[in-house]
Amino acid sequence: MSQLPDGASDLADAAALDAADPLAGFRDAFVHAEDEPDLIYLDGNSLGRLPVASVALAAEVVEAQWGRRLIRSWNEGWFELPTRIGDRLAGVVGAAPGEVALADNTSVCLYKAAVAALQARPGRTRILTDDLNFPSDVQVLRAAARAAGPDHEVVVVPSDGVHGPLDGLLAEMDDGGVALVSLSHVAYMSGWCWDLAAVTAAVHEAGALVLWDLCHSVGAVPIDLGAAEVDLAVGCTYKYVNGGPGSPAFLYVSADRPELVNPIAGWYGSDDPFAFDFDAGRAPDVSRFLTGTPPVLSTALVEPGVDLLLEAGMDRLRAKSVALTERFIALVDEHLVPRGFELRSPRDPDLRGAHVSLFHPDALAVDQALINEESVIPDFRPPDLLRFGFAPLYVRYADVDEAVARTVRVVDGGGIDRWRDAKPAVP
Ligand SMILES: Cc1ncc(COP(=O)(O)O)c(C=O)c1O
Repeated sequence: MSQLPDGASDLADAAALDAADPLAGFRDAFVHAEDEPDLIYLDGNSLGRLPVASVALAAEVVEAQWGRRLIRSWNEGWFELPTRIGDRLAGVVGAAPGEVALADNTSVCLYKAAVAALQARPGRTRILTDDLNFPSDVQVLRAAARAAGPDHEVVVVPSDGVHGPLDGLLAEMDDGGVALVSLSHVAYMSGWCWDLAAVTAAVHEAGALVLWDLCHSVGAVPIDLGAAEVDLAVGCTYKYVNGGPGSPAFLYVSADRPELVNPIAGWYGSDDPFAFDFDAGRAPDVSRFLTGTPPVLSTALVEPGVDLLLEAGMDRLRAKSVALTERFIALVDEHLVPRGFELRSPRDPDLRGAHVSLFHPDALAVDQALINEESVIPDFRPPDLLRFGFAPLYVRYADVDEAVARTVRVVDGGGIDRWRDAKPAVP
C-alpha cells in the first residue's frame, strides 16, 4: 500500500475501521481476480462485482437445467423466475410480493410504465423530469409522450448540475396539467438523492402519478416504496445488485394501481400464457407488465446478488456507504482539491447516494491513468467528471485512502500527460 502525503487529516485509521466493519465478511462473497490483488474497484455503480455464488449457479443453470433437463426446466422453476426473484427484490425496495418483476431493461420498463401512467391520466398532457436524469430516461419519456399524442410534452426542469431542482419542479406542478413526474432517485452524475417520500407526496397532491428510476439507489440507499405510496418504479440489477452485465431490469407497479395497463401486452403478461388464446385476460399483479419470454440465464443470476443485499440489510449498507463517501470527500478536500479537482456531488450525505463525482479539467486522462497505471477503476463521464462508486458490500475503508493516494501519484507523477490522448470506446 502506498501512503497519502502528510496532511492535517484526523481521520480514524482505515485498517482499524476495516477490522471493526460488521460487513467486512461480505467482500469474500465476491470474486477477486488473483492476478490483480491490488485492484481497487470503484465502479460498482456501473457494473457490480461477480458474486461467488453466481459462478456455480451459472454452471447449474446451463449444464443441469438447460443441458440435462431441457424444456422440462420451464416447469421446474424457469417460468416463475421473473416474479419469484422480483418478490425477493421487493424486500430490498419496500414493496409487497406481486409488486416487483424482473423484465426487459430499464429503458423498456420505463417506457411501459410511462405510457401506462399517461393513459391513466387522460386530459393531462405533461411529463415532468429534471436535467439530472439519465439521458435514456428523457429519450424514453419523450417517446412515451409522442405515443400518447401530439399535445403531450416532456418538461425538463433545469438544475444547478448537482442538486435536484425541487422549487422548479413544484412550480411546474401548479397548473393541473401534469400527468406524470419521473425522476432518478439518485442522479447518475452528481449522486444527488431525492427525498423519495416527500416528492411522491407532492406529486400526488398535484394529482399526478410518480415514476422513480432506482438504478443508482437500489442496493445503495434504503427504499420504502410502499410507505411512500409510490405508483411506479424501475431500476437495473447490474449495479449495486450485482446481477451481471446486461442483467434484466425490474419494474414495480403498486398493488393500489390496478388501473395501470401494460402498453406492450404479450403472452407472459396474460393470465394464462399457455392457453394460447388471442383474448387472454391480463395477470392481476405486476406480472401483467411482462411481455415475452424472459432471458432465463441472466434472470437466474440476479438472485445471488439480491440474497447478499437482504442478508447485509440496507440500513447497515447505507451506514457504511455514507462513512466511505464521507471519508473520500474529506481526503479529496485535503489532497485532491489542491491538485485541481472539485467536488460535484452534494456535500450533505443525506442528499447523496453511494457515488461521488469530481470535476477535473483532464478528467479522462486521470481516469485512464488510474485504470492503466494504478489499478484503480473509477469511471469518466463527459466532459470533465470522474465518478467514484463506493459499493459497501465490497469496498474497504483502506481502498478509499489508497484510491486517493494513487490519484495523487497520477497527478504528481505526470500520468495526465501520458494519457492525454487516450480515446477509449467505453470510458
Ligand atoms: C439512472 C439510469 N437509468 C437508466 C439507465 C439505462 O438502463 P438500461 O440500459 O438498462 O435501459 C441507466 C444506465 O446506466 C441509468 O444509470
